[in-house]
Amino acid sequence: MSTSAYEPMPSALETERLLLRPWVESDAEQLLALHAERAEGVRPGVATVAEARANIAAQLLATAKNGLALLSIRRRDEGDLIGYCGLVVGRSTVDEPEIAYELFPRVHGHGYATEAAAAVLAAATATGRKRVWATVGTWNAPSLRVLEKLGFERDHLSMEDSGEVVWLTREPGDRDAS
Ligand SMILES: CC(C)(COP(=O)(O)OP(=O)(O)OC[C@H]1O[C@@H](n2cnc3c(N)ncnc32)[C@H](O)[C@@H]1OP(=O)(O)O)[C@@H](O)C(=O)NCCC(=O)NCCS
Repeated sequence: MSTSAYEPMPSALETERLLLRPWVESDAEQLLALHAERAEGVRPGVATVAEARANIAAQLLATAKNGLALLSIRRRDEGDLIGYCGLVVGRSTVDEPEIAYELFPRVHGHGYATEAAAAVLAAATATGRKRVWATVGTWNAPSLRVLEKLGFERDHLSMEDSGEVVWLTREPGDRDAS
């Protein structure tokens, strides 16, 4: 049961080309494969199928508690799982969560992240939230471009062991109608 002041995020989102759904345990091998394809120097993810299953279980528990969800993304036509997108507490708060996304390299550059993230921002608005954040390494030009396309604006920088992080923000209602 969610303890947040906001409505739980809708758990099934649809766009022209994509279906976003909660992770299920049988997606564990795909999640492992996704993390295995992370670029060198990026924060390592799960390293075994057991860890992937535990990661999925932890995500579902977090969703039950705070109403925020990271959803798997499948292409409607191909039916394949291509990554995830959703809202997380991350470096921010339940009230002003972060948007997060990651796709398999084989599908980069087709507008999928932007398409999925636009649906997630509309879902954030539907929960009653007024602000969403994104935190991105300054080196991550593709992610910064996705956020720019969605109307995020740079707010401030922070320094972490892994390097400089840009904090960007957007009021979800701003562009959802466009
Ligand atoms: C970030 C990520 C999700 C983007 O996915 P995607 O589906 O390729 O994104 P889109 O196609 O919607 O948009 C990518 C944009 O970045 C642009 N881009 C790609 N590489 C770029 C680069 N090196 N420099 C500048 N822009 C770049 C693309 O041209 C496109 O912009 P355009 O539509 O104006 O041409 C994907 O690169 C990814 O999974 N990266 C690894 C995980 C990650 O970094 N997640 C974000 C953590 S903050």
